[in-house]
Amino acid sequence: MTETTHTTEGTRRLAAVVLAAGEGTRMRSERAKVLHEVLGRPMVRYPVEAARRAGADRVVVVVGHQQEAVAGVLRGALEEEGPDDRLVFVEQPERRGTADAVRRTAEAVAGFDEVLILCGDTPALDGASLRGLVDAHREADATLTLLAARLDEPAGYGRVLRGESGAVEGVVEHRDATEAQRAIPEVNTGVYLARRDALFEALERVGSDNAQGELYLPDVVALTAAEGRRVRTHALSDPELVLGVNDRVQLARVEEVVLARRREALMRAGVTLQQPDTVRIEPDVAVDADAVIGPGVQLHGRTHVGAGARVEAGCVLEDTVVGPGARLMPYVVADGARVEAGASAGPFAHLRTRTVLREGARVGNFVETKKTTMAPGSKANHLAYLGDAEVGRGTNVGAGTITCNYDGISKHRTEIEDEVFIGSDVQLVAPVRLGRRATIAAGATITRDVPAGALALTRVSQTHKDDYDERYRRPREEAKRGSDR
Ligand code: UD1
Ligand code: CA
Repeated sequence: MTETTHTTEGTRRLAAVVLAAGEGTRMRSERAKVLHEVLGRPMVRYPVEAARRAGADRVVVVVGHQQEAVAGVLRGALEEEGPDDRLVFVEQPERRGTADAVRRTAEAVAGFDEVLILCGDTPALDGASLRGLVDAHREADATLTLLAARLDEPAGYGRVLRGESGAVEGVVEHRDATEAQRAIPEVNTGVYLARRDALFEALERVGSDNAQGELYLPDVVALTAAEGRRVRTHALSDPELVLGVNDRVQLARVEEVVLARRREALMRAGVTLQQPDTVRIEPDVAVDADAVIGPGVQLHGRTHVGAGARVEAGCVLEDTVVGPGARLMPYVVADGARVEAGASAGPFAHLRTRTVLREGARVGNFVETKKTTMAPGSKANHLAYLGDAEVGRGTNVGAGTITCNYDGISKHRTEIEDEVFIGSDVQLVAPVRLGRRATIAAGATITRDVPAGALALTRVSQTHKDDYDERYRRPREEAKRGSDR
Protein backbone atom coordinates (compact mmCIF):
# COMPACT_ATOMS: atom_id res chain seq x y z
CA MET A 1 0.00 0.00 0.00
CA THR A 2 2.64 2.50 1.07
CA GLU A 3 4.76 1.37 -1.83
CA THR A 4 2.11 2.01 -4.48
CA THR A 5 1.52 5.48 -3.01
CA HIS A 6 5.20 6.20 -3.32
CA THR A 7 5.55 5.06 -6.91
CA THR A 8 2.64 7.22 -8.10
CA GLU A 9 3.74 10.23 -6.04
CA GLY A 10 6.58 11.30 -8.27
CA THR A 11 4.37 11.27 -11.34
CA ARG A 12 1.44 13.27 -9.95
CA ARG A 13 1.14 16.54 -11.77
CA LEU A 14 -0.11 19.43 -9.68
CA ALA A 15 -1.99 22.49 -10.98
CA ALA A 16 -3.17 25.38 -8.82
CA VAL A 17 -6.31 27.50 -9.20
CA VAL A 18 -6.39 31.00 -7.68
CA LEU A 19 -9.83 32.59 -7.34
CA ALA A 20 -9.58 36.29 -8.09
CA ALA A 21 -12.69 37.34 -10.01
CA GLY A 22 -14.49 39.17 -7.21
CA GLU A 23 -14.87 42.91 -6.84
CA GLY A 24 -14.36 43.12 -3.09
CA THR A 25 -17.21 45.54 -2.35
CA ARG A 26 -16.24 45.93 1.29
CA MET A 27 -12.92 47.52 0.29
CA ARG A 28 -14.97 50.52 -0.96
CA SER A 29 -12.51 51.05 -3.76
CA GLU A 30 -12.31 51.76 -7.46
CA ARG A 31 -9.68 49.05 -7.61
CA ALA A 32 -10.40 45.32 -7.52
CA LYS A 33 -9.62 43.88 -4.10
CA VAL A 34 -6.83 41.54 -5.26
CA LEU A 35 -4.94 44.51 -6.72
CA HIS A 36 -4.61 46.22 -3.35
CA GLU A 37 -1.06 46.02 -2.12
CA VAL A 38 0.37 44.11 0.80
CA LEU A 39 3.92 45.32 1.44
CA GLY A 40 4.15 47.01 -1.92
CA ARG A 41 2.96 44.12 -4.09
CA PRO A 42 -0.55 43.34 -5.30
CA MET A 43 -2.23 40.85 -3.00
CA VAL A 44 -2.90 38.34 -5.80
CA ARG A 45 0.84 37.74 -6.29
CA TYR A 46 1.11 36.02 -2.92
CA PRO A 47 -1.11 32.97 -3.60
CA VAL A 48 0.33 32.60 -7.11
CA GLU A 49 3.90 32.57 -5.82
CA ALA A 50 3.03 30.35 -2.83
CA ALA A 51 1.41 27.82 -5.18
CA ARG A 52 4.55 27.71 -7.30
CA ARG A 53 6.68 27.23 -4.25
CA ALA A 54 4.44 24.35 -3.21
CA GLY A 55 5.21 22.63 -6.50
CA ALA A 56 2.39 23.65 -8.87
CA ASP A 57 3.49 23.32 -12.51
CA ARG A 58 0.70 25.57 -13.71
CA VAL A 59 -1.24 28.32 -11.94
CA VAL A 60 -4.67 29.10 -13.34
CA VAL A 61 -6.03 32.45 -12.18
CA VAL A 62 -9.79 32.97 -12.41
CA VAL A 63 -10.39 36.61 -13.29
CA GLY A 64 -13.47 38.75 -13.86
CA HIS A 65 -13.61 42.17 -12.26
CA GLN A 66 -10.82 44.35 -13.75
CA GLN A 67 -9.37 41.25 -15.37
CA GLU A 68 -6.91 43.04 -17.67
CA ALA A 69 -5.35 44.82 -14.72
CA VAL A 70 -5.14 41.63 -12.63
CA ALA A 71 -3.59 39.66 -15.51
CA GLY A 72 -1.29 42.60 -16.24
CA VAL A 73 0.26 42.80 -12.78
CA LEU A 74 0.79 39.05 -12.62
CA ARG A 75 2.33 38.83 -16.08
CA GLY A 76 4.53 41.82 -15.34
CA ALA A 77 5.76 40.35 -12.07
CA LEU A 78 6.21 36.73 -13.11
CA GLU A 79 6.74 36.42 -16.85
CA GLU A 80 10.52 36.24 -16.62
CA GLU A 81 10.19 32.94 -14.81
CA GLY A 82 9.35 30.60 -17.65
CA PRO A 83 7.01 29.52 -20.44
CA ASP A 84 3.57 31.08 -20.65
CA ASP A 85 1.58 27.94 -19.90
CA ARG A 86 2.80 28.09 -16.31
CA LEU A 87 0.48 31.07 -15.78
CA VAL A 88 -2.97 30.86 -17.37
CA PHE A 89 -5.99 33.16 -17.06
CA VAL A 90 -9.60 32.01 -17.23
CA GLU A 91 -12.53 34.39 -17.28
CA GLN A 92 -15.55 34.06 -15.04
CA PRO A 93 -18.08 36.39 -16.70
CA GLU A 94 -20.48 36.57 -13.73
CA ARG A 95 -19.79 36.10 -10.04
CA ARG A 96 -21.97 33.07 -9.50
CA GLY A 97 -19.91 31.71 -6.63
CA THR A 98 -16.62 30.02 -5.89
CA ALA A 99 -17.76 26.64 -7.29
CA ASP A 100 -18.71 28.27 -10.59
CA ALA A 101 -15.29 29.92 -10.69
CA VAL A 102 -13.49 26.57 -10.34
CA ARG A 103 -15.76 24.85 -12.89
CA ARG A 104 -14.50 27.27 -15.52
CA THR A 105 -10.94 25.99 -15.10
CA ALA A 106 -11.79 22.44 -16.28
CA GLU A 107 -9.99 22.82 -19.59
CA ALA A 108 -7.02 24.71 -18.15
CA VAL A 109 -6.27 21.95 -15.61
CA ALA A 110 -7.06 18.98 -17.88
CA GLY A 111 -4.05 16.68 -17.94
CA PHE A 112 -3.13 17.37 -14.31
CA ASP A 113 -3.71 14.79 -11.58
CA GLU A 114 -4.22 17.12 -8.64
CA VAL A 115 -5.69 20.58 -8.22
CA LEU A 116 -4.73 22.96 -5.41
CA ILE A 117 -7.34 25.69 -4.96
CA LEU A 118 -6.72 28.93 -3.13
CA CYS A 119 -8.23 32.40 -2.85
CA GLY A 120 -6.73 35.61 -4.16
CA ASP A 121 -7.52 37.40 -0.91
CA THR A 122 -5.49 35.38 1.64
CA PRO A 123 -1.96 36.69 1.08
CA ALA A 124 -0.44 35.47 4.36
CA LEU A 125 -0.63 31.80 3.34
CA ASP A 126 2.90 30.82 2.43
CA GLY A 127 4.49 28.17 0.25
CA ALA A 128 5.61 26.09 3.23
CA SER A 129 2.04 25.81 4.58
CA LEU A 130 0.79 24.71 1.17
CA ARG A 131 3.62 22.24 0.85
CA GLY A 132 2.52 20.77 4.20
CA LEU A 133 -0.97 20.33 2.76
CA VAL A 134 0.36 18.63 -0.39
CA ASP A 135 2.49 16.21 1.63
CA ALA A 136 -0.32 15.32 4.05
CA HIS A 137 -2.77 14.78 1.18
CA ARG A 138 -0.44 12.42 -0.64
CA GLU A 139 0.56 10.57 2.49
CA ALA A 140 -3.10 9.90 3.36
CA ASP A 141 -3.83 9.05 -0.29
CA ALA A 142 -6.91 11.26 0.09
CA THR A 143 -9.35 12.29 -2.61
CA LEU A 144 -9.79 15.74 -1.10
CA THR A 145 -7.93 17.50 1.71
CA LEU A 146 -9.15 20.75 3.20
CA LEU A 147 -6.74 23.16 4.86
CA ALA A 148 -8.40 23.98 8.18
CA ALA A 149 -7.58 26.20 11.15
CA ARG A 150 -8.90 26.75 14.66
CA LEU A 151 -9.75 30.38 15.35
CA ASP A 152 -10.71 32.16 18.54
CA GLU A 153 -12.98 34.37 16.44
CA PRO A 154 -14.28 32.19 13.62
CA ALA A 155 -17.11 34.55 12.62
CA GLY A 156 -17.40 35.02 8.85
CA TYR A 157 -15.62 31.82 7.88
CA GLY A 158 -17.14 28.53 6.76
CA ARG A 159 -17.16 25.96 9.62
CA VAL A 160 -15.94 22.39 9.33
CA LEU A 161 -18.65 19.83 10.16
CA ARG A 162 -17.60 16.46 11.59
CA GLY A 163 -19.58 13.29 12.35
CA GLU A 164 -19.64 11.27 15.57
CA SER A 165 -16.40 9.51 14.66
CA GLY A 166 -14.68 12.80 13.90
CA ALA A 167 -14.71 12.28 10.13
CA VAL A 168 -15.25 15.38 7.99
CA GLU A 169 -18.80 15.60 6.63
CA GLY A 170 -18.89 19.04 5.07
CA VAL A 171 -18.52 22.80 5.45
CA VAL A 172 -21.28 25.23 6.33
CA GLU A 173 -20.97 28.92 5.49
CA HIS A 174 -21.32 31.36 8.39
CA ARG A 175 -24.50 32.83 6.90
CA ASP A 176 -26.12 29.43 6.56
CA ALA A 177 -24.95 28.08 9.93
CA THR A 178 -27.14 27.42 12.97
CA GLU A 179 -26.21 28.89 16.36
CA ALA A 180 -24.68 25.55 17.37
CA GLN A 181 -22.63 25.38 14.16
CA ARG A 182 -21.41 28.94 14.65
CA ALA A 183 -19.86 27.83 17.95
CA ILE A 184 -17.50 25.52 16.01
CA PRO A 185 -13.98 27.01 16.11
CA GLU A 186 -12.63 24.96 13.21
CA VAL A 187 -12.83 26.92 9.93
CA ASN A 188 -12.28 26.43 6.23
CA THR A 189 -9.23 28.45 5.15
CA GLY A 190 -10.50 28.40 1.55
CA VAL A 191 -7.62 26.16 0.44
CA TYR A 192 -8.25 22.66 -0.91
CA LEU A 193 -6.24 19.96 -2.61
CA ALA A 194 -8.21 17.40 -4.62
CA ARG A 195 -7.88 14.73 -7.24
CA ARG A 196 -8.87 16.48 -10.41
CA ASP A 197 -11.36 13.88 -11.70
CA ALA A 198 -13.22 13.61 -8.38
CA LEU A 199 -13.26 17.38 -7.95
CA PHE A 200 -14.93 18.11 -11.28
CA GLU A 201 -17.44 15.29 -10.77
CA ALA A 202 -18.44 16.83 -7.44
CA LEU A 203 -18.57 20.35 -8.92
CA GLU A 204 -21.22 19.14 -11.40
CA ARG A 205 -23.51 18.41 -8.48
CA VAL A 206 -23.12 21.68 -6.52
CA GLY A 207 -26.41 23.60 -6.21
CA SER A 208 -27.27 27.15 -5.16
CA ASP A 209 -29.81 26.46 -2.43
CA ASN A 210 -28.20 28.67 0.22
CA ALA A 211 -28.43 32.10 1.84
CA GLN A 212 -26.60 33.83 -1.02
CA GLY A 213 -28.05 31.78 -3.90
CA GLU A 214 -24.46 31.11 -5.03
CA LEU A 215 -22.58 28.00 -6.07
CA TYR A 216 -20.41 27.29 -3.03
CA LEU A 217 -17.11 25.54 -3.58
CA PRO A 218 -17.03 24.18 0.00
CA ASP A 219 -20.07 22.04 -0.93
CA VAL A 220 -17.70 19.70 -2.76
CA VAL A 221 -16.48 18.57 0.66
CA ALA A 222 -19.88 17.10 1.63
CA LEU A 223 -20.50 15.74 -1.87
CA THR A 224 -17.17 13.93 -1.93
CA ALA A 225 -17.51 12.60 1.63
CA ALA A 226 -21.04 11.33 0.94
CA GLU A 227 -19.66 9.16 -1.84
CA GLY A 228 -17.48 7.36 0.67
CA ARG A 229 -14.29 8.85 -0.76
CA ARG A 230 -11.43 9.79 1.47
CA VAL A 231 -11.78 13.39 2.71
CA ARG A 232 -9.24 14.75 5.16
CA THR A 233 -8.33 18.02 6.81
CA HIS A 234 -4.85 19.35 7.32
CA ALA A 235 -4.40 21.82 10.18
CA LEU A 236 -2.64 25.08 9.42
CA SER A 237 0.22 25.41 11.91
CA ASP A 238 -0.23 29.12 12.52
CA PRO A 239 -3.89 30.22 12.42
CA GLU A 240 -2.86 33.83 11.75
CA LEU A 241 -1.99 32.82 8.20
CA VAL A 242 -5.61 32.15 7.32
CA LEU A 243 -6.52 35.84 7.63
CA GLY A 244 -8.47 36.89 4.57
CA VAL A 245 -8.80 40.44 3.32
CA ASN A 246 -12.35 41.67 2.92
CA ASP A 247 -11.91 45.29 4.04
CA ARG A 248 -9.07 47.72 4.73
CA VAL A 249 -8.91 46.93 8.43
CA GLN A 250 -8.16 43.30 7.56
CA LEU A 251 -5.73 44.48 4.89
CA ALA A 252 -3.69 46.29 7.54
CA ARG A 253 -3.82 43.24 9.84
CA VAL A 254 -2.68 40.82 7.16
CA GLU A 255 0.15 43.12 6.20
CA GLU A 256 1.26 43.17 9.82
CA VAL A 257 1.22 39.34 9.90
CA VAL A 258 3.28 39.04 6.70
CA LEU A 259 5.69 41.69 7.95
CA ALA A 260 6.10 40.15 11.39
CA ARG A 261 7.06 36.81 9.85
CA ARG A 262 9.55 38.47 7.54
CA ARG A 263 11.18 40.39 10.39
CA GLU A 264 11.40 37.25 12.47
CA ALA A 265 12.99 35.27 9.61
CA LEU A 266 15.60 38.01 9.11
CA MET A 267 16.46 38.16 12.80
CA ARG A 268 16.83 34.37 12.89
CA ALA A 269 19.15 34.65 9.89
CA GLY A 270 21.47 37.02 11.76
CA VAL A 271 20.14 40.52 11.07
CA THR A 272 19.76 42.95 13.99
CA LEU A 273 16.50 44.88 13.91
CA GLN A 274 16.23 47.64 16.49
CA GLN A 275 12.63 48.12 17.65
CA PRO A 276 11.55 45.59 15.02
CA ASP A 277 7.88 46.52 15.20
CA THR A 278 8.70 49.87 13.58
CA VAL A 279 10.69 48.42 10.67
CA ARG A 280 9.06 47.82 7.26
CA ILE A 281 10.79 45.43 4.88
CA GLU A 282 9.22 44.45 1.56
CA PRO A 283 9.33 40.86 0.26
CA ASP A 284 11.95 41.33 -2.49
CA VAL A 285 14.45 43.05 -0.17
CA ALA A 286 17.58 41.12 0.84
CA VAL A 287 19.47 41.77 4.07
CA ASP A 288 22.69 39.91 4.88
CA ALA A 289 23.84 38.66 8.26
CA ASP A 290 25.23 41.13 10.80
CA ALA A 291 23.55 44.10 9.15
CA VAL A 292 21.96 46.46 11.70
CA ILE A 293 18.64 48.08 10.82
CA GLY A 294 17.57 50.98 13.03
CA PRO A 295 14.13 52.01 14.27
CA GLY A 296 11.61 53.26 11.72
CA VAL A 297 13.61 52.13 8.68
CA GLN A 298 11.72 51.25 5.48
CA LEU A 299 13.33 49.02 2.87
CA HIS A 300 11.43 48.88 -0.41
CA GLY A 301 11.66 47.22 -3.82
CA ARG A 302 14.84 45.34 -4.59
CA THR A 303 16.97 46.95 -1.91
CA HIS A 304 19.95 44.89 -0.74
CA VAL A 305 21.76 45.59 2.53
CA GLY A 306 25.13 43.85 2.78
CA ALA A 307 26.83 42.09 5.67
CA GLY A 308 27.69 44.29 8.62
CA ALA A 309 26.17 47.42 7.04
CA ARG A 310 24.31 49.88 9.27
CA VAL A 311 21.09 51.53 8.18
CA GLU A 312 20.23 53.88 11.01
CA ALA A 313 16.96 55.33 12.27
CA GLY A 314 14.37 56.56 9.80
CA CYS A 315 16.15 55.72 6.53
CA VAL A 316 13.86 55.03 3.57
CA LEU A 317 15.53 53.03 0.79
CA GLU A 318 14.07 51.94 -2.52
CA ASP A 319 15.94 49.69 -5.01
CA THR A 320 19.17 50.66 -3.28
CA VAL A 321 22.30 48.61 -2.68
CA VAL A 322 24.16 49.17 0.59
CA GLY A 323 27.52 47.40 0.47
CA PRO A 324 29.16 45.42 3.25
CA GLY A 325 30.12 47.60 6.17
CA ALA A 326 28.63 50.76 4.64
CA ARG A 327 26.81 53.17 6.93
CA LEU A 328 23.70 55.23 6.40
CA MET A 329 23.23 57.65 9.25
CA PRO A 330 19.68 58.62 10.30
CA TYR A 331 17.11 59.82 7.78
CA VAL A 332 18.84 59.06 4.51
CA VAL A 333 16.34 58.77 1.65
CA ALA A 334 17.68 56.79 -1.32
CA ASP A 335 16.13 55.56 -4.55
CA GLY A 336 18.12 53.55 -7.07
CA ALA A 337 21.42 54.35 -5.35
CA ARG A 338 24.53 52.27 -4.69
CA VAL A 339 26.52 52.81 -1.52
CA GLU A 340 29.57 50.58 -1.77
CA ALA A 341 31.57 48.87 0.94
CA GLY A 342 32.69 51.23 3.63
CA ALA A 343 31.05 54.33 2.11
CA SER A 344 28.75 56.48 4.24
CA ALA A 345 25.93 58.99 3.92
CA GLY A 346 23.75 61.15 6.12
CA PRO A 347 22.28 62.19 8.36
CA PHE A 348 19.58 63.72 6.11
CA ALA A 349 21.05 62.94 2.70
CA HIS A 350 18.99 62.36 -0.44
CA LEU A 351 20.61 59.85 -2.79
CA ARG A 352 18.60 59.79 -5.98
CA THR A 353 18.70 57.51 -8.98
CA ARG A 354 22.12 56.26 -10.19
CA THR A 355 24.04 57.74 -7.32
CA VAL A 356 27.17 55.66 -6.71
CA LEU A 357 29.29 56.16 -3.60
CA ARG A 358 32.44 54.14 -4.09
CA GLU A 359 34.47 52.63 -1.29
CA GLY A 360 35.05 55.07 1.52
CA ALA A 361 33.28 57.99 -0.20
CA ARG A 362 31.16 60.18 2.02
CA VAL A 363 28.08 62.34 1.58
CA GLY A 364 27.02 64.34 4.62
CA ASN A 365 23.97 66.23 5.84
CA PHE A 366 21.65 68.03 3.44
CA VAL A 367 23.42 66.78 0.35
CA GLU A 368 21.38 65.70 -2.67
CA THR A 369 22.93 63.56 -5.39
CA LYS A 370 21.55 62.31 -8.71
CA LYS A 371 23.32 60.37 -11.50
CA THR A 372 26.56 61.11 -9.71
CA THR A 373 29.53 58.91 -8.92
CA MET A 374 31.76 59.76 -5.98
CA ALA A 375 35.14 58.01 -6.35
CA PRO A 376 36.87 56.36 -3.38
CA GLY A 377 37.78 58.77 -0.63
CA SER A 378 35.85 61.73 -2.08
CA LYS A 379 33.67 63.84 0.20
CA ALA A 380 30.72 66.21 0.07
CA ASN A 381 30.17 66.77 3.74
CA HIS A 382 27.47 69.41 3.88
CA LEU A 383 24.75 71.21 1.93
CA ALA A 384 25.44 70.42 -1.71
CA TYR A 385 23.63 69.41 -4.88
CA LEU A 386 25.56 67.09 -7.21
CA GLY A 387 23.67 66.10 -10.35
CA ASP A 388 25.05 64.42 -13.52
CA ALA A 389 28.52 64.59 -12.03
CA GLU A 390 31.65 62.49 -11.78
CA VAL A 391 33.71 63.23 -8.67
CA GLY A 392 37.31 61.97 -8.63
CA ARG A 393 39.35 60.27 -5.92
CA GLY A 394 40.20 62.23 -2.81
CA THR A 395 38.23 65.25 -4.01
CA ASN A 396 36.63 67.56 -1.46
CA VAL A 397 33.34 69.25 -2.34
CA GLY A 398 32.75 72.25 -0.07
CA ALA A 399 29.54 73.29 1.67
CA GLY A 400 27.08 74.99 -0.62
CA THR A 401 28.52 73.59 -3.86
CA ILE A 402 25.96 73.23 -6.59
CA THR A 403 26.24 71.66 -10.02
CA CYS A 404 24.10 73.80 -12.29
CA ASN A 405 23.30 70.81 -14.49
CA TYR A 406 20.09 72.05 -16.08
CA ASP A 407 19.79 75.03 -18.41
CA GLY A 408 16.02 74.81 -18.57
CA ILE A 409 16.11 72.59 -21.65
CA SER A 410 18.70 69.89 -21.22
CA LYS A 411 20.98 68.35 -18.62
CA HIS A 412 24.77 68.69 -18.73
CA ARG A 413 27.62 66.87 -17.04
CA THR A 414 30.20 68.07 -14.56
CA GLU A 415 33.53 66.20 -14.51
CA ILE A 416 35.69 66.66 -11.46
CA GLU A 417 39.04 64.89 -11.53
CA ASP A 418 41.10 63.48 -8.65
CA GLU A 419 42.16 65.51 -5.62
CA VAL A 420 40.31 68.67 -6.59
CA PHE A 421 39.54 71.04 -3.72
CA ILE A 422 36.27 72.94 -4.06
CA GLY A 423 35.73 75.72 -1.53
CA SER A 424 32.37 76.72 -0.09
CA ASP A 425 29.46 78.17 -2.05
CA VAL A 426 30.61 77.29 -5.55
CA GLN A 427 28.42 77.01 -8.62
CA LEU A 428 29.67 74.69 -11.34
CA VAL A 429 27.83 75.66 -14.51
CA ALA A 430 27.76 72.49 -16.64
CA PRO A 431 29.06 71.24 -18.96
CA VAL A 432 32.34 71.87 -17.20
CA ARG A 433 35.49 70.00 -16.20
CA LEU A 434 37.79 70.63 -13.22
CA GLY A 435 41.29 69.25 -13.86
CA ARG A 436 43.28 67.13 -11.45
CA ARG A 437 44.41 68.98 -8.26
CA ALA A 438 42.59 72.16 -9.28
CA THR A 439 41.53 74.45 -6.43
CA ILE A 440 38.28 76.37 -6.65
CA ALA A 441 38.10 79.40 -4.40
CA ALA A 442 35.07 79.93 -2.21
CA GLY A 443 32.17 81.71 -3.86
CA ALA A 444 33.27 80.98 -7.44
CA THR A 445 30.89 80.64 -10.33
CA ILE A 446 32.72 78.32 -12.74
CA THR A 447 31.60 78.58 -16.35
CA ARG A 448 34.77 77.34 -18.15
CA ASP A 449 36.99 74.28 -17.69
CA VAL A 450 39.67 74.69 -15.01
CA PRO A 451 43.13 73.36 -15.95
CA ALA A 452 44.84 70.79 -13.75
CA GLY A 453 46.68 72.31 -10.81
CA ALA A 454 45.18 75.83 -11.28
CA LEU A 455 43.39 78.05 -8.76
CA ALA A 456 40.09 79.37 -10.07
CA LEU A 457 38.83 82.60 -8.58
CA THR A 458 35.82 84.44 -9.90
CA ARG A 459 34.79 86.82 -7.18
CA VAL A 460 35.37 90.58 -7.20
CA SER A 461 38.45 91.26 -5.09
CA GLN A 462 37.91 92.72 -1.65
CA THR A 463 38.40 96.52 -1.12
CA HIS A 464 38.12 98.65 2.06
CA LYS A 465 36.82 102.21 2.50
CA ASP A 466 38.81 103.40 5.49
CA ASP A 467 37.08 105.28 8.33
CA TYR A 468 33.68 104.46 6.85
CA ASP A 469 32.09 104.30 10.30
CA GLU A 470 33.45 107.66 11.44
CA ARG A 471 32.84 109.54 8.18
CA TYR A 472 29.55 108.09 6.93
CA ARG A 473 27.72 105.74 9.28
CA ARG A 474 27.91 107.58 12.58
CA PRO A 475 26.95 111.06 11.18
CA ARG A 476 23.89 109.59 9.44
CA GLU A 477 22.78 107.74 12.58
CA GLU A 478 23.07 110.94 14.61
CA ALA A 479 21.20 113.03 12.04
CA LYS A 480 18.36 110.48 12.09
CA ARG A 481 18.16 110.52 15.88
CA GLY A 482 17.95 114.36 15.75
CA SER A 483 15.05 114.36 13.30
CA ASP A 484 13.16 111.65 15.30
CA ARG A 485 13.07 113.87 18.40
C1 UD1 B 1 -14.77 31.64 1.37
C2 UD1 B 1 -15.39 30.27 1.68
C3 UD1 B 1 -15.38 30.05 3.20
C4 UD1 B 1 -13.97 30.21 3.75
C5 UD1 B 1 -13.37 31.56 3.34
C6 UD1 B 1 -11.91 31.62 3.73
C7 UD1 B 1 -17.04 29.96 -0.08
C8 UD1 B 1 -18.48 29.96 -0.44
N1 UD1 B 1 -16.73 30.22 1.18
O1 UD1 B 1 -15.64 32.62 1.92
O2 UD1 B 1 -15.87 28.74 3.51
O3 UD1 B 1 -14.02 30.10 5.18
O4 UD1 B 1 -13.45 31.73 1.91
O5 UD1 B 1 -11.36 32.89 3.45
O6 UD1 B 1 -16.21 29.68 -0.92
N2 UD1 B 1 -14.53 34.57 -6.15
C9 UD1 B 1 -14.56 34.38 -7.51
N3 UD1 B 1 -15.73 34.20 -8.12
C10 UD1 B 1 -16.93 34.17 -7.45
C11 UD1 B 1 -16.90 34.36 -6.05
C12 UD1 B 1 -15.67 34.55 -5.42
O7 UD1 B 1 -13.52 34.39 -8.17
O8 UD1 B 1 -17.97 33.99 -8.10
C13 UD1 B 1 -13.23 34.77 -5.49
C14 UD1 B 1 -13.12 36.09 -4.76
O9 UD1 B 1 -12.57 37.06 -5.62
C15 UD1 B 1 -12.19 35.77 -3.60
C16 UD1 B 1 -12.40 34.28 -3.36
O10 UD1 B 1 -13.07 33.77 -4.49
O11 UD1 B 1 -10.83 35.98 -3.94
C17 UD1 B 1 -13.24 33.99 -2.11
O12 UD1 B 1 -14.48 34.64 -2.23
P1 UD1 B 1 -15.15 35.42 -1.02
O13 UD1 B 1 -16.43 35.97 -1.48
O14 UD1 B 1 -14.18 36.33 -0.39
O15 UD1 B 1 -15.45 34.18 -0.04
P2 UD1 B 1 -15.60 34.23 1.54
O16 UD1 B 1 -16.94 34.76 1.88
O17 UD1 B 1 -14.43 34.86 2.15
CA1 CA C 1 -12.78 36.19 1.48
